[in-house]
Amino acid sequence: MTLTVKSVARVSLVSTLVLAAAGAALLSASPASGAASTLAAAAQQSGRYFGTAVAANKLGDSTYTGILNREFDMVTAENEMKMDATEPNQGQFSYGNADRIVNQARNQGKRVRGHALAWHSQQPGWMQNMSGTALRNAMLNHVTQVATYYRGKIYAWDVVNEAFADGSSGGRRDSNLQRTGNDWIEAAFRAARAADPGAKLCYNDYNTDNWSHAKTQGVYRMVQDFKSRGVPIDCVGFQAHFNSGNPVPSNYHTTLQNFAALGVDVQITELDIEGSGSSQAQQYQGVTQACLAVARCTGITVWGIRDTDSWRASGTPLLFDGNGNKKAAYTSVLNVLNDGTGGTTPPTSTTTTTSNPGGGGCTATYSEGEKWSDRFNGQVTVSGSDNWIVTVTVSSPQRIIATWNTSASWESANVMTARPNGSGNSFGFTISHGGNWNWPSVSCRVA
Ligand code: G3I
Repeated sequence: MTLTVKSVARVSLVSTLVLAAAGAALLSASPASGAASTLAAAAQQSGRYFGTAVAANKLGDSTYTGILNREFDMVTAENEMKMDATEPNQGQFSYGNADRIVNQARNQGKRVRGHALAWHSQQPGWMQNMSGTALRNAMLNHVTQVATYYRGKIYAWDVVNEAFADGSSGGRRDSNLQRTGNDWIEAAFRAARAADPGAKLCYNDYNTDNWSHAKTQGVYRMVQDFKSRGVPIDCVGFQAHFNSGNPVPSNYHTTLQNFAALGVDVQITELDIEGSGSSQAQQYQGVTQACLAVARCTGITVWGIRDTDSWRASGTPLLFDGNGNKKAAYTSVLNVLNDGTGGTTPPTSTTTTTSNPGGGGCTATYSEGEKWSDRFNGQVTVSGSDNWIVTVTVSSPQRIIATWNTSASWESANVMTARPNGSGNSFGFTISHGGNWNWPSVSCRVA
């Protein structure tokens, strides 16, 4: 038995080293062979898309278009379909730059998200000073004309963009459009549906990622109301512009899931996360996992290709560096799309430890359970004794937040002691991981 304990101890040490190595290598690892090697192909495995914002004046840059053509299967015009671009003079429509983006995308077999039909910002000068019925009619005419022009070519329209106020009110943002009457949003959706019945119609906003924020709740109530009254809305876009002051919330998955439960698709529409290295990569991982965990999260769009293409380039918020090289965040996203883990989870295997204080001995075997963006399940199966004590140790910032089929007590915040509770020799638990996907260590002794 002494020999067994020693050999198990060696296995355990080797396991620890392998896991540590896996953790260290996680963000630079290549996708496993057989896995998809581009973002679009990887997303398509679960029926989703992976898109990017595109600027018409960059389509002549071969590095830019090379990455665009290779990696993405959905395209959003970054500025070229906005009101000031498409109707620079009232009643005179201009589609040149938008068409370049749409045609380039469609020629490459990509789909297009339309952005945006009605918005308080980037209005043409003639519209900015309008009010009342004249503005309402001008807005509805704009929606009708642009959606009709692109009928059949748009997967989803951001019909209305950013109509809710920041802060604690949970209400509408003041704007010239809002002052035409609270029903301006539903009027825009009805006009868009009439103009292009085949396009999904989305409401799109930022700072709506945290479920507990008033703005999120305000948008939720509007979508709930629209669904109950038959206003034609199909999707909600979450812009997802994150940085250290506005990090990815731990309840992001809850937000996406709750909106989807209203009967709409959810889409991550303008994703960028300021930062670098493994910290940035882990946040991208969490966002991607949150989408994958929601059946009606139909796709993710990043707001630009290279860091230098970004509207906030100094924050290096994208998946490719200024030279077009893949960043750690790219690999993290690709790995999540391929296998749900972002490469930050050790490969599936089991780890066991034993000890033999009373001569009987027992073995505890850990196996992986379900994973979510913020937590994962684990299971331990004991053999060799029915009278066991298993110690489960998690590493910071992990916390065990639920247990089943065991009687549990805590030696410290990170160390749980599990005993039989009459449910057999297998028990489970949920770990809130806080970005740390490492497995717990388990050890068994006979009581
Ligand atoms: O093209 C002109 C150029 O000729 C001129 O020299 C230069 C001088 O400032 O301006 C250039 O236009 C700029 C345009 O981007 C193209 O680069 C505008 O000033 C600038 O305001 C505009 O910014 C855009 C911004 O929306 C406007 O609100 C960003 O590119 C675009 O990424 C950003 O996208 C928005 C989404 O539509 C909605 N959600 C938030 C997101 C980020 O702000």
